[in-house]
Amino acid sequence: MEFFKWKDQFSVYIPEMDQQHQKFFSLLNNVHIYNEKQGRDPEFLNGLFRDLVAYVEVHFAEEETLLEKNKFLGLEIQKKQHQYFRDQLAQFRDQHFKGDAIVPQSVLVFLRDWFMRHVLELDKKYGEHFKKLGS
Ligand SMILES: [Fe+2]
Ligand SMILES: [Fe+2]
Repeated sequence: MEFFKWKDQFSVYIPEMDQQHQKFFSLLNNVHIYNEKQGRDPEFLNGLFRDLVAYVEVHFAEEETLLEKNKFLGLEIQKKQHQYFRDQLAQFRDQHFKGDAIVPQSVLVFLRDWFMRHVLELDKKYGEHFKKLGS
């Protein structure tokens, strides 16, 4: 079963940002699938973690650039939350690189729920703002 399923209500009305959000969740789904597999290869999980960290880096940077360019007032809180998440994710990655064979379910749930809440509560705000402006 899928660990996360995309719903229309997650949309921020900007296709590129929606795709990036979807990609993050699909990477998380891959970690979940990995966890459930037998005969796990920790190297593979290392790769998934690298992808997650790299992906979040790109997404946050692009989102912040978009908000900056459009002088969106909610930029500072976005940056703060993005930094928090970056730090958390890096911490989980480092823990894992020290030798854990799976990612604890509680970590996956944290990553999923944090990201989902961030999209619904904060990203949605710029989405609705730009939608109103008709841009
Ligand atoms: Fe964001
Ligand atoms: Fe986002």
